[in-house]
Amino acid sequence: MGPNLITSAVVRHDVGGNEIGVVIHDGRMDKGMPAFPEITVAQAAEIAAFLHARVASTSRASALSGSTADAGHLLSGNVAAGHAFFNAKCAGCHSSTGDLKGVATKLQGYELMTTMLYPKGAADTGSVTPKASPNKTLKGTFIHRDEFTVTLRTADGMTHTWQTPEVTLHVDDVLRGHRELLHTYTDKDMHDVFAYLDTLR
Ligand code: HEC
Repeated sequence: MGPNLITSAVVRHDVGGNEIGVVIHDGRMDKGMPAFPEITVAQAAEIAAFLHARVASTSRASALSGSTADAGHLLSGNVAAGHAFFNAKCAGCHSSTGDLKGVATKLQGYELMTTMLYPKGAADTGSVTPKASPNKTLKGTFIHRDEFTVTLRTADGMTHTWQTPEVTLHVDDVLRGHRELLHTYTDKDMHDVFAYLDTLR
């Protein structure tokens, strides 16, 4: 009845239960998932750790087996419909003859599915402006950011650290497009786009 949690974008996007916990706690009544309001943060983190371990072992197994078997049942989608969806929703940022050329040679099966839903490893970039000197904005890649300190590496390779309350942050959030798509995909769209991407070899 429910979606496959190994290919779930929410699971992929989750860090330590932050996404999974919300779904368990609030449920998705409209889609038939009950709420578990009694779940604690620690329990959500444990369930998340279990699911992450299953995702990791599944993608390892699929990499070892050359993944053709796994790709087979993911490939139930319609390539033409996937191509149309791609042109409508993905082509603003991607090109099948540019950055995604050969993506299905590089990634297969679950690995391609989960990457397509929520890519991992995109650089966390943005800029920092000290409140005391608003015209000294630095751009770069965040190495660390939390409510206490921010460390940014600039293009010259130097790292700079500030106390978070003393600066204004602008985070590029390059994966916003993917996060927004997560809420709009139907299961069919997902399989169609996957079937299309699988032709990019
Ligand atoms: C708003 C822009 C945007 C949209 C829309 C978007 N993506 Fe992405 N996509 C990105 C960014 C940014 C990355 C991460 C690039 C990186 O890792 O540096 C990415 C990464 C990917 C990757 C991983 C590529 C690789 O080589 O690892 C795949 C596959 C992908 N997107 C597929 C899709 C598909 C399919 C759609 C439409 C359903 C889509 N994207 C829509 C911006 C977008």
